Amino acid sequence: MLTERADRLWTDEEPLTFFGVELGRIMTVVELSSGGLFVQSPAELTPDLQRALEELGDVRFVAPASKLHGHLYMEQYRAAFPGVELLAAPGLAARRLDLQFDGLLGDTPDPRWSADIDQVAVDGHRWLTEIAYYHRQSGTVILGDVGFHIGPSSPPKTRLVARLLRIYRRISPPIEFRLTIANEDTFRRSIRDVLAWEFDRLIPGHGEIVETGGKQAVADGFDWIL
Ligand SMILES: [Fe+2]
Repeated sequence: MLTERADRLWTDEEPLTFFGVELGRIMTVVELSSGGLFVQSPAELTPDLQRALEELGDVRFVAPASKLHGHLYMEQYRAAFPGVELLAAPGLAARRLDLQFDGLLGDTPDPRWSADIDQVAVDGHRWLTEIAYYHRQSGTVILGDVGFHIGPSSPPKTRLVARLLRIYRRISPPIEFRLTIANEDTFRRSIRDVLAWEFDRLIPGHGEIVETGGKQAVADGFDWIL
C-alpha cells in the first residue's frame, strides 16, 4: 500500500517474482501543484489501492518508465479514473495496441507537470529508451530498469542473481543491458543529465529505495560509464 516518502510523494512497493527471483517493483505517486496525481509505473489497481489514490486526489497522468517497465496495468487506470491521460514511453504504443495513449514521453516535460516533475530520456541503448523522472520539491529521482538496486534484505537467491547481473548494492541496469549499449557517449550524456539534478532520494524500478545519498549512489552505480 502507499507509503508517504515526503510531502506530495508516495510509493507503493509490491512483490514481483521473475523466473523465480524475487525482485519487487515500485510505483511512485506525485501530487502536482495543480492538485492532480502523477502516477509512475502503476501497480495493479486493487480496490484498496484505488480507494487510497482517490483519497489523495484526482489521478491525472499515468506514466511508465519504458516500453518494458510500468505499463502492465495502465488499462485498469483508464477504466477506473475517467479523464486520466495515459502516457507512452518510446516504443510503447507499438507494444500496447490495445491502449489509446494521450501523449508521448520524451526529453521535455509537459507544462502541466513540468513545475513539479522534470524528465530525461535515457538514450543510447540498442532497443530501450527509459524515461527518468525528477520530483523537484522532494529532491527525488525515479528510475525503472536502468536503475535496479538489490540490497541485503533480499532473499539469498535474489542476492546471488543480483551479484551475477552486477546490480547487488549498486544502482545500475543489469549487465546484459550494459553490454548492449549502442552509443556509449549518448548513454553517458543521459546519466550526466540525471546527475545534474539536485536530489538525495533515489527510487529504483526494482529493489531498495535510497532515502539519502542517492546522488552519490547513482554516481557510484554508473562508474562503469562515467
Ligand atoms: Fe522492470
